[in-house]
Amino acid sequence: MADLKNEFDCATTLKEGRFWMPFTANRRVREQGMARVLETAKGPYYTTADGTKLFDTLSGLWCTPLGHAQPRITEALRKQADTLDFAPSFQLANPEAVRLAERIANMAPAGLEHVFFANSGSEAVDTALKIAIGFHRLRGEGARFRLIGRERGYHGVGFGGMSVGGIVPNRKMFATVMVPGVDHIRHPYNHAKVAFTKGQPAWGAELAEDLERLVALHDASTIAAVIVEPVQGSTGVLVPPIGYLQRLREICTKHGILLIFDEVITGFGRMGENFAAQRFGVKPDMITFAKAVTNGIVPMGGVIVTDEIYNTFMNGSESAIEFAHGYTYSGHPLAAAVAHTVLDIMEEENLIARVRSLEPVLEEAIHSLRDLPLVHDLRNIGLTAAIDLKPKDGAPGARGLEVFEKGLKSGVLLRCTGETISFGPPFISTPEQLRDMVATVRKLIAELD
Ligand SMILES: Cc1ncc(COP(=O)(O)O)c(C=O)c1O
Repeated sequence: MADLKNEFDCATTLKEGRFWMPFTANRRVREQGMARVLETAKGPYYTTADGTKLFDTLSGLWCTPLGHAQPRITEALRKQADTLDFAPSFQLANPEAVRLAERIANMAPAGLEHVFFANSGSEAVDTALKIAIGFHRLRGEGARFRLIGRERGYHGVGFGGMSVGGIVPNRKMFATVMVPGVDHIRHPYNHAKVAFTKGQPAWGAELAEDLERLVALHDASTIAAVIVEPVQGSTGVLVPPIGYLQRLREICTKHGILLIFDEVITGFGRMGENFAAQRFGVKPDMITFAKAVTNGIVPMGGVIVTDEIYNTFMNGSESAIEFAHGYTYSGHPLAAAVAHTVLDIMEEENLIARVRSLEPVLEEAIHSLRDLPLVHDLRNIGLTAAIDLKPKDGAPGARGLEVFEKGLKSGVLLRCTGETISFGPPFISTPEQLRDMVATVRKLIAELD
């Protein structure tokens, strides 16, 4: 290996593999070089290091709904860096984080009143799972240790999130170190029943009954919590059937099981409401959030919990730490200041209402692809959508990768997992940009063999 430590050349260093990339086919990227390096970003576009302008079809990784280089956010960041750039988060508070907790609690469904900050979706999820375990223990029900996830769920990559997650490639390498006692309910997608549905499928509410199966197997007295994404984002926008989340809520309530909505993708407007809980009219006991809260600009995540959960922890000696958990950067002042500006902009520019007005535009555009022979399914809800392609014989994932790589040359940055292309465009997108995005994707799919 050449000694590049003092002589930096991006393409060469990338090729050498010094930069080990997350969730990436590293050797393929190393071959492709600068076409895979994003150098600048403005509004809903990225520009690669080799000069190609790309429409940001997934808002970064579902996290930049306001687009890039928003001058007010940049200014808020600069100003906060001048005022209080870091403050310890243990035994001390900072005004921006305190005010943000108040603001987020006000945006959440009534009864979810207290906010614990983390720095990512994974940390938010692991925090929520630990709160669930602690809550039951403090109430004298320490035997409730089981955590229930859902097949095809993605809850990040911490040991907790990985264990409740339901994506096989993320689990199999670490099968020996899963959190004990975790089980999974079935996912709510059935191609034969719901393919090409616009919005929520009418079929499938009964799949929530799968939780009763696990209760019968393990007994409710051993189950602490169920965690689901209201809309399963990472495995390709799996939309909850009408009545499904309501049924899950009823079963959890009946058995004293906490219900956690992982709203890392759906939180802060993506569903046309502050949270998916409001869109679907179901109140969980905890909501995890991350990503859009800061427009992805400074990492931040967190958990919103009910009064009951918070008050259960606030017992015992007043000088004792009630929850032995937290992160150096919990409630980081830079992240909190940026979050306020993001939420200000969302409010002042009515961006959540804009999501509602863009939803039918995206729906119509995506479902116009139905005539393409390689399209296997199309789904949408809020400002999200997904296309499933038919796999190539003997080469699963090949079509997804091909369309992604062709997109890089054709002006769209696509998010492809296996044969699924997921969309979560910025809220600031125009109807025309959404239609152009889908028109480009139509061409790319039509060119596949
Ligand atoms: C629902 C959900 N939970 C958790 C995570 C993990 O978030 P992070 O990558 O910030 O750790 C993600 C990431 O996409 C997610 O979609």
